[in-house]
Amino acid sequence: MLRVGLIGCGFMGSMHANCYKNIAGVEIAAVADIRSEKAAECAKDTNAKIYGDGKDLIAEADVDVIDICLPTFLHTEFALLAMDKVKYLFIEKPVSLTAEEGQALLRKSAETGCLVQIGQVIRFWDEYVELAKTVEAGTYGKVMHASFRRISPRPEWGWKNWLLDPTLSGGAGQDLHIHDVDYVLSLFGEPQKYYSVRNSRGEKNSYVNTLMAYDGFAVGVEGTWGLPTSHPFEATFRVTFEHAVLENAGGKFMRYDKDGAHEIVIEKAALAGDAYAGGNVSDLGGYYNELVYFCDKAAKGEPIEKATLADGVSSLTFLLKELAFEG
Ligand SMILES: NC(=O)c1ccc[n+]([C@@H]2O[C@H](COP(=O)([O-])OP(=O)(O)OC[C@H]3O[C@@H](n4cnc5c(N)ncnc54)[C@H](O)[C@@H]3O)[C@@H](O)[C@H]2O)c1
Repeated sequence: MLRVGLIGCGFMGSMHANCYKNIAGVEIAAVADIRSEKAAECAKDTNAKIYGDGKDLIAEADVDVIDICLPTFLHTEFALLAMDKVKYLFIEKPVSLTAEEGQALLRKSAETGCLVQIGQVIRFWDEYVELAKTVEAGTYGKVMHASFRRISPRPEWGWKNWLLDPTLSGGAGQDLHIHDVDYVLSLFGEPQKYYSVRNSRGEKNSYVNTLMAYDGFAVGVEGTWGLPTSHPFEATFRVTFEHAVLENAGGKFMRYDKDGAHEIVIEKAALAGDAYAGGNVSDLGGYYNELVYFCDKAAKGEPIEKATLADGVSSLTFLLKELAFEG
């Protein structure tokens, strides 16, 4: 059994707990949250030892891997401690608040040999995995242009509302838009040129729109959490290839080509337990897939090759350049 220590049992921690409960050969051996009721919820149906502060879990718990689902401003402090304890560490995205913190994590990982995966979950989301395979194989020819969008109501679920304080979360750019930025960088690398605009009539940190210019094609990436709560969360893309368009929108993944419109149906993993953890997502899909990957690598003692610490730091570094872009 791979023994997991989970630190932070809020929205994302409870999502991860539900995933671990569905992964064979894995047990949640310890959980920590300063809100005891949250820790108890994640420990439900397990024999996990319950801690308050995550530092006590790191100091005392008998675990093989640690998973940090703390607010972003706490990632670095806890990750540096955890890397002295375990060989495999998972850190939710964004990897850290600043690029300097990211560099400190890279140095610590090199020094300790701790292998780190970052929760850049889109790299594991079925439709996005399928798109990446298609781009790589050139199935429908070259990419002509593409658009990625992630739009959400204000995230008001956070502990002490930390998400809405940009000094703690980085705002919509760093917390939400980074998903698509990381994915686009994983597909195409850094653009030759980019132009980024933010801000909407004085409301800072809630809207980002970046146009990335590559050799021969352009990619638009838009993200906001400035919508009213009545508006549903949407994560969509449209990629136009020479011979087809792949579009993921309105709950359907479609291919449009010269023969017509075709729905692409992807077989999802069957999951037990409570697959809804609140917030703005209703599906364990990518979260389950990324943790299956992480646990498999840890159980086999193999290197982490997807959504690595270096990937997370590169994406954060590019994202911070976007947010500082002046035109
Ligand atoms: N991958 C995704 O799609 C996704 C979605 C949402 C959030 N996230 C990321 O997950 C991380 C957590 O976000 P969240 O939405 O779960 O926040 P949250 O506020 O719901 O949960 C954070 C939890 O940490 C606990 N906590 C705070 N200090 C602690 C300490 N010292 N020891 C133990 N517990 C402590 C809080 O009580 C809270 O329950 C953030 O980095 C966020 O950006 C990722």
